[in-house]
Amino acid sequence: PFPKSVRLVEVAPRDGLQNEPEPIDTVTKLELIDRLGAAGIRYIEAASFVSPKWVPQMADHRDVMTGLTRREGVTYAALTPNLKGLEAALACGVEEVAVFGAASETFSHKNINCSIAESLERFAPVLERAQSAGVRVRGYVSCVLGCPYEGEIAPTKVAEVSKALYEMGCYEVSLGDTIGVGTPFAAKRMLEAVSRNIPMDKLAAHFHDTYGQALANLYAVLEEGIAVIDSSVAGLGGCPYAKGASGNVASEDIVYLLNGLGIETGIDLNRLADTGTWITQAIGRPNRSKVGVALAAK
Ligand code: HMG
Ligand code: MG
Repeated sequence: PFPKSVRLVEVAPRDGLQNEPEPIDTVTKLELIDRLGAAGIRYIEAASFVSPKWVPQMADHRDVMTGLTRREGVTYAALTPNLKGLEAALACGVEEVAVFGAASETFSHKNINCSIAESLERFAPVLERAQSAGVRVRGYVSCVLGCPYEGEIAPTKVAEVSKALYEMGCYEVSLGDTIGVGTPFAAKRMLEAVSRNIPMDKLAAHFHDTYGQALANLYAVLEEGIAVIDSSVAGLGGCPYAKGASGNVASEDIVYLLNGLGIETGIDLNRLADTGTWITQAIGRPNRSKVGVALAAK
């Protein structure tokens, strides 16, 4: 059965911008975050407390996190791969963080410079520290439907890593099709394996649209009861350690689909589409949301 409402996790300020080669002003990032909140988005991944050597575009994480104007009812979250990142994020008053692992050994090494097992060892103290500070932790698993280095990834491997993150205390596990290679039956098979260990309402879908399958895959997992979806306005983005990966499903496109299905999101589609038009012009990128382009042409 389809969920009655869906919570969108807007990742454009982080996943959407992290791979941009030219530095983007902090002011532009702050305006993006503000416009997303004004459009009714209730959860915004605002920054990433990672090494600036690894991801230069996120080097202004402190200024973003402390500079944003908080709206009531909106959660502003940040990625924190280790204790160093977490401490920096806590010092900025972050209310929620995320750790990010992978279902592929090679991707784990390329992305966070350690094995899957080492990453889990590293996340345990991050969770402990965050919890003692009253900060909730979300967990990501990358490469759930394929890896740029290893190819196919077994659903059992995804289930194993997801379970470890959940048991460690992540309140929600976001399943990342990092390179957007999945198709609907594969997405369902993967979700079936993961949801054997974790309740469906503790899972989120984080699907990239590299092969144009994100909406089809999301429809498939919505049917299974997924009610949290990560998306990026204008379909911005890509992962620096997954060559050729495009952005997440465009927020405008998934909201349009959900509206059509009668599933509540609380989001103002026109304001969201305006935000997509504005940010793509501001950073000189094409708008990868079909709905955004169609609405702008009206
Ligand atoms: P490392 O080199 O193994 O770390 O990197 P280290 O502990 O040896 O430290 C090396 C240097 O980094 C030191 O500085 C540290 O202080 C510094 P130096 O002494 O050389 O001057 N450092 C840090 N600086 C700032 N913040 C930190 C931090 N930690 C260490 N938190 C590390 C390990 C994890 C830090 C590195 O690999 C890294 O930053 N990786 C991040 C990669 C990344 O951000 N990828 C994109 C996000 S994941 C993604 O997009 C997928 C997702 O969207 C889901 C999906 O689509 O599937 C989530
Ligand atoms: Mg991603």
